[in-house]
Amino acid sequence: MTSPTIESILQENRLFPPPAEFSEQAQLKSLEEYQALYERAKANPEAFWAELAEQELHWFQPWEQILDWQPPHARWFVNGKINISYNCLDRHLTTWRRNKAALIWEGEPGDSRTLTYAQLHREVCQFANVLKGLGIKKGDIVGIYMPMIPEAAIAMLACARIGAPHTVVFGGFSAEALRDRLNDGKAKLVITADGGWRKDAIVPLKEQVDRALNNNSAPSVENVLVVQRTKQNISMQPGRDHWWHDLQQGVSANCPAEPLDSEDMLFILYTSGSTGKPKGVVHTTGGYNLYTHVTTKWIFDLRDTDVYWCTADVGWITGHSYIVYGPLSNGATTLMYEGAPRSSNPGCFWDVIEKYGVTIFYTAPTAIRAFIKMGEHLPNARDLSSLRLLGTVGEPINPEAWIWYHRIIGKERCPIVDTWWQTETGGIMITPIPGAIATKPGSATRPFPGILADVVDLNGNPVPASEGGYLVVRHPWPSMMRTVYGDDDRFRRTYWEHIAPVDGQYLYFAGDGARCDADGYFWVMGRVDDVISVAGHRLGTMEIESALVSHPAVAEAAVVGKPDEVKGEEVVAFVILEDAYLPNEDLDKALKKHVVAEIGALARPGQIRFTDALPKTRSGKIMRRLLRSLAAGEEISGDTSTLEDRSVLDKLREGA
Ligand code: WTA
Repeated sequence: MTSPTIESILQENRLFPPPAEFSEQAQLKSLEEYQALYERAKANPEAFWAELAEQELHWFQPWEQILDWQPPHARWFVNGKINISYNCLDRHLTTWRRNKAALIWEGEPGDSRTLTYAQLHREVCQFANVLKGLGIKKGDIVGIYMPMIPEAAIAMLACARIGAPHTVVFGGFSAEALRDRLNDGKAKLVITADGGWRKDAIVPLKEQVDRALNNNSAPSVENVLVVQRTKQNISMQPGRDHWWHDLQQGVSANCPAEPLDSEDMLFILYTSGSTGKPKGVVHTTGGYNLYTHVTTKWIFDLRDTDVYWCTADVGWITGHSYIVYGPLSNGATTLMYEGAPRSSNPGCFWDVIEKYGVTIFYTAPTAIRAFIKMGEHLPNARDLSSLRLLGTVGEPINPEAWIWYHRIIGKERCPIVDTWWQTETGGIMITPIPGAIATKPGSATRPFPGILADVVDLNGNPVPASEGGYLVVRHPWPSMMRTVYGDDDRFRRTYWEHIAPVDGQYLYFAGDGARCDADGYFWVMGRVDDVISVAGHRLGTMEIESALVSHPAVAEAAVVGKPDEVKGEEVVAFVILEDAYLPNEDLDKALKKHVVAEIGALARPGQIRFTDALPKTRSGKIMRRLLRSLAAGEEISGDTSTLEDRSVLDKLREGA
């Protein structure tokens, strides 16, 4: 673990108060209102959440206990019965929202579809019956490997409806990565498509599924359901593979939502950590439903007239919480877009905003930096006047990008919510409340009511204002991860033991460094472990190293992130070859290709640096800090006295 420093953080003192016109209409209208809520929640978090759970959600049966906290295990709304698909669909059908657009979808080639709440409900019920017909029961895990099409959301909601936990695997992951995740969860079924559109090309999803399953390498999978999207030729294995449209044909749309236990597993989502293979983060039903509902409502200040667009992929937590569950639970109109900015249409995002009159736009800093590069003539050529609120997520946003977003996209009118959270937290933890909290470019500002965040040292003691430390959360919250699937020990070690409990109080350790300024604003500085963020995608350096050493030519590999203007970080791999191999361009290409095959294109090294030694401590640990400096082309500073062989550094420098 590296220790957080404040060197890299800019001094940023600009303050942007919420525009008066925005605050007047907002769900939370003033700093006083936020503070009152925050204090009330802090004084009694359980009562705060229970009151909201009663007001905001439908329960089949009330809970008997609000929180059962056996550190580090929390159970929320114990013995309460609930169904998130009911809260996202059924309860809106008895209101005027029945015929409101629930999901607006735009495909990359320009096709589109809108589903009202009644239509979405119908499709979800039918598909839930299809799942049942394939023998899927409560507790069976279902893999979803889909493009950004309505069927992805329909599949998630149908799983939730019958209590079958889903595990969505991002469509950019390779067959290998898919297979690992299916095997870890022992998935019984995989839902996919023939392909998906990505930058004018077809992502051959079904082909990857075939590869993941071949030679019985994922033996738990009994059936594969395939949506026809791109219509190229694919092979269908009789008995195992079925077309979605065939099975959906003529199926009953009557499928009442199963009353599930509040703590029944809703989904597993794999995410990268600092060691070993990706972790299956487990989220359960009631607490997750409540937290994503309330955060969506207050942070995005939802109104019934909004067209809300989050540009994430459903394969990531942002897609789960803020494309599907949070917005639909609120009865909002959520927009889903299959495409990405590409050379044939670099301004496609602005087209979508204009076409649908998007009012709330939630994207990532890496996308904003790419927009800056593409030039402001693109957004300037479109009517963006419908926008009223902007958001970012995924990594720290540099103040320059923040200001550009504010000026060019928000026309200095729209508040920006810079939202800090993680796969593990389930929902947004630190963020401006747009009508209440003045923003500072680059700061995620203040904790959401009910979240007791702090910056501490390794002993769990708060550090003085503006000093760097570790970001922690002090009290359990409803959507916190419950465990690592199949590895509770890893859950304890990763999140609860780095920082020792203080007076018996457990602190959740997020893995991020941060500082909190004199105004109580949080500045997240990035990971303090070996997790990197490439174009907003979270990757473990160990994962990439394992992929590299699985290639016959590689003896040893060390991977670090190198700062990149657009992507945030780029993967740089230092590689020692086996004796029989010589470094050359072909091998460079082959190794990059190998990483893509093992993990996916998102992990492709930007640079491979061949070397015959790595800087190690006398105890044999690779000194990544030095490699990071080398990769960034910086001078080596700080203590190098533990280095075993100093000449290694000189060689590595020469090699560059
Ligand atoms: C980083 C994405 C700074 C952070 C929702 C965290 C951020 C990791 C922000 C989680 C932000 C996310 N400012 N850093 N607003 N949002 N991060 O699990 O390092 O894909 O630990 O969840 O992204 O990434 P994950």
